[in-house]
Amino acid sequence: MIDSFDVELFAKSYSDKSAKEILKLAFQHFSDNLWISFSGAEDVVLLDMAWRLNKNINVFSLDTGRLFPETYRFIEEVRDFYQIKIDILTPDSRQLEPFIKEKGLFSFYKDGHSECCEIRKVAPLRNKLSTVKAWVTGQRKDQSPGTRNHVAVLEKDNVFSSETNVLYKFNPLANMTSAEVWSYIRMMEIPYNALHAKGFISIGCEPCTRAILPNQHEREGRWWWEEGTKKECGLHAGNLIASNK
Ligand code: ADX
Ligand code: SF4
Repeated sequence: MIDSFDVELFAKSYSDKSAKEILKLAFQHFSDNLWISFSGAEDVVLLDMAWRLNKNINVFSLDTGRLFPETYRFIEEVRDFYQIKIDILTPDSRQLEPFIKEKGLFSFYKDGHSECCEIRKVAPLRNKLSTVKAWVTGQRKDQSPGTRNHVAVLEKDNVFSSETNVLYKFNPLANMTSAEVWSYIRMMEIPYNALHAKGFISIGCEPCTRAILPNQHEREGRWWWEEGTKKECGLHAGNLIASNK
C-alpha cells in the first residue's frame, strides 16, 4: 500500500477535502506507521478526529522540559479522556546538559531560539521520525501568514526524510480557521488547555510564549523578541523554504 502512495496526486485531489477525509486517507495508507504529533494545545481537535476514526492511534508529544504546568496537566487529561497512550519524547541529556552549562537556561532571549529548539524539540523529533513512515500535524495556514500560508494538506517531508526512509507529512487542519477549530472544540465538548482561558492562543514553551492582546495575531505571542519570518522552530522548517519561494 505504502509503495503506491502518489503524494503529488493525492495532495492535489485532497487539497480542499475535509480534515476527516484527509485523516482517512492517511490511516488507509499508513495505518500503524502513522503518528499524530500533539503539542498540548488546540490541536486536540486533530487528535479527537483521528481517535474517532481509529481508537488505537499512535500519538507523541515533545516534552521540551519547558512546557507550562497547564500543558503537562492537559496532556495527562487527554490521556485519560481518550484512554490512549502518549509517547512523551524528551531531549538527550548528553546534548542538553553541556548546552545549559555553557549558555544557561535563557540563552534564547540573547541569541535566538534555534539552538535550544534544536536540542529540546528537533533532535528528539528527528530521532522519532527516523522510525516512522508518516506523521500528522495540527498546522494551519491561518496560524502564521508569514510562514504557513502555503501549508499543504499532505506532502513528502523533505526536512526529515532520509536516504533510507521516505517520510510523509499530513496537515489535515491546514485549511481550517481558528474559529472553526474552536467551534469544533465547543460542539464536541472536548477538553482544552486551561491557558486558552487566560488569553493564550498559540501555545509553546513557557519562556517563549505569552498571552496576546485583542486583535494581535496569535503568532505574536510566540518568540515575540524575534522577527515574524523566523518564527518556526525547526519542527516545520520546510515552511520557511516554501515561504521564501
Ligand atoms: S511550533 O513549531 O510553532 O512550535 P505550533 O505550536 O504552531 O508549532 O504547532 C503546530 C503543530 O506542530 C502542532 O499541531 C503539532 O502537530 C506540532 N507540534 C508543535 N509542538 C509540539 C510538541 N511539543 N509536541 C508534539 N508536536 C508538536
Ligand atoms: Fe527552548 Fe523556547 Fe524553543 Fe522551547 S520554544 S525549545 S524553551 S527556545
